[in-house]
Amino acid sequence: MTRKENTVVVGCQLGDESKGRVTDYMANNARIVVRFQGGANSGHTVWVNGKKTVLHLVPSGVLNQHTISVIATGVTVDPFALYEEMNMLREQGVIITPDNFKIAANCPVITSIHKAIDVFEENLRGANKIGTTLKGIGPANVDRVARKGIKLYDLLHYDRLEKFFPLEVYQALTYKYALEDSHRAFIDKLYVIGKILKPYFADTSLFLDAECKKGAVLFEGAQSGMLDIDYGSYPNVTSSHCIAGYASVGTGVSSRYIDKIVGVAKVYTTRVGAGPFPTEITGDEGEALRQKGSEFGATTGRPRKVGWMDLVALKYGARVHGITSIAITKFDIFSGFDSIKVCTHYTIDGKNVYDMPVDHEDCSRAIPNYISFDGWSENLSQVDSAEKLPTQAIMYALYLADSLGVEIELIGVGPNREQTLVVSKKLLSDIINIRIIEMNK
Ligand code: IMP
Ligand code: MG
Repeated sequence: MTRKENTVVVGCQLGDESKGRVTDYMANNARIVVRFQGGANSGHTVWVNGKKTVLHLVPSGVLNQHTISVIATGVTVDPFALYEEMNMLREQGVIITPDNFKIAANCPVITSIHKAIDVFEENLRGANKIGTTLKGIGPANVDRVARKGIKLYDLLHYDRLEKFFPLEVYQALTYKYALEDSHRAFIDKLYVIGKILKPYFADTSLFLDAECKKGAVLFEGAQSGMLDIDYGSYPNVTSSHCIAGYASVGTGVSSRYIDKIVGVAKVYTTRVGAGPFPTEITGDEGEALRQKGSEFGATTGRPRKVGWMDLVALKYGARVHGITSIAITKFDIFSGFDSIKVCTHYTIDGKNVYDMPVDHEDCSRAIPNYISFDGWSENLSQVDSAEKLPTQAIMYALYLADSLGVEIELIGVGPNREQTLVVSKKLLSDIINIRIIEMNK
C-alpha cells in the first residue's frame, strides 16, 4: 500500500471513552477527519494547552488546523446547534471556511419539533425512560426511516419546507408538543439557517471517495458498540449504528478503503442513561470515582454511572467493531487505588457467561466475576514516555490487549494532548522484561 492508512476510531464500552481526545491526537497525522453517525447527542471533550473544548457535531480534528473537517451523511444535524458550535470555535480563533469544513448536503435534519417529541416521549416512558440526551436524534431518525424527514438541502427551498410542514400539520404539532414558534417563524428560521450553512454544503461522498484513495482519512465514531441501535443494549441505545462498519455507510465510501480500526476504552466503565450495568460501583466508592474521573455528561451534565472494567462488554465491543488496536485512556485516574478489579465473566441464572448475551437484558441479572490487579500510587500526570509508567499499569494494559488479541495504540495519562503515549505491545513487554532482568541482578 503506497497511501497512508485510513483509520476508524470507535468506542468499545458505553460511550465517553475519550474518543474525542484520541481523535484529536491522531488527527495530527491525518489530512481529513470525518464524523459518520450520531449527532449533537455526542459530547467530545478535547484539551489543548490547558483549554477545554467540548464538541458535539464538529469533528474532534478541528483543533488541528491542517485537517479538513467533514460531517458526513450519517450524522443527524441540528443546523442551529451546528451553527452555534461553529461560532463557539470561531470565538476561540479556529478558522472555519468552506475549504476546511464540509457538511454533507444530504444529512437528515433535526428540527425543534424533533427535540420536543424527544422530551414528550421520554416523559411518557415514565419509569422506563431511555435517558436520551433530548437532542431530538431519535425522533429525527424515525422521520428519516419513515421517509418524511428533511435533508439539509431541503432547507434551501422554501416551498419544500412548506410542503413538509403544512400549516394544519404544524398547528396539530403545536397543540401536542407545545411548540413555541408560529408556523411562519418556524419555516423562516429553517430557511435562513439553510442559507447561512449553504457555503459548507458538499457532496461529501464524492469528496471522501477521492480523499480515501489518497489516504490519511480519520473516521471519528460517536457513542459505542453497546449503544448501537441493533447491536447495543436495546432499547437503551441511541438511534443510529455506532459500529465501525457504519463508517462506510455513513460516509458513502467503500469499506475497502478502511485499513485500521482503533477501539477506545477507559480503564474503568461508565454509563449515562438507562440500561444494564453489571459492574456498576455504587455508594461512596462510586461517587469517589465519579468525582476523580470527572464523570459528568459532556452534553447533558448528568452524573455518569461508574463501574469496573467489564471484559464481557469490552470483548463484545471489540468484536462488533472488529478493532485492530486499542487506545486505553484515563490511567491517571487509577493512581492511588490499592487494587483494580476486572470482570472476566458473568454468572447469569447459575451459568458462567463469557460472551455478551444476544438479549442484553439478561445482563440485568448478571453477577460479575472479578479478578484483581494491584494498583499503583504514582501520579501519572507528568509521565511522558512508556518507560516511566508503573509496572502495574503496564501489566493492566497488556492484559486488556491480550484479552482482546489486538495491538495497543495509545495510552492516556491525563486529559491533555501531551498526556498521550504512543505505545505497542512489544514496547510494553520489553519494558517489563528489562525490569524483571534488573530485579534479578
Ligand atoms: P440519544 O442518543 O440522545 O437518543 O440517547 C440514547 C441513549 O444513548 C441514552 O442512554 C444516552 O445517554 C446515550 N448516549 C447518546 N449519546 C451518547 C454519548 O455520546 N455518550 C454516552 N452516551 C450517549
Ligand atoms: Mg461523550
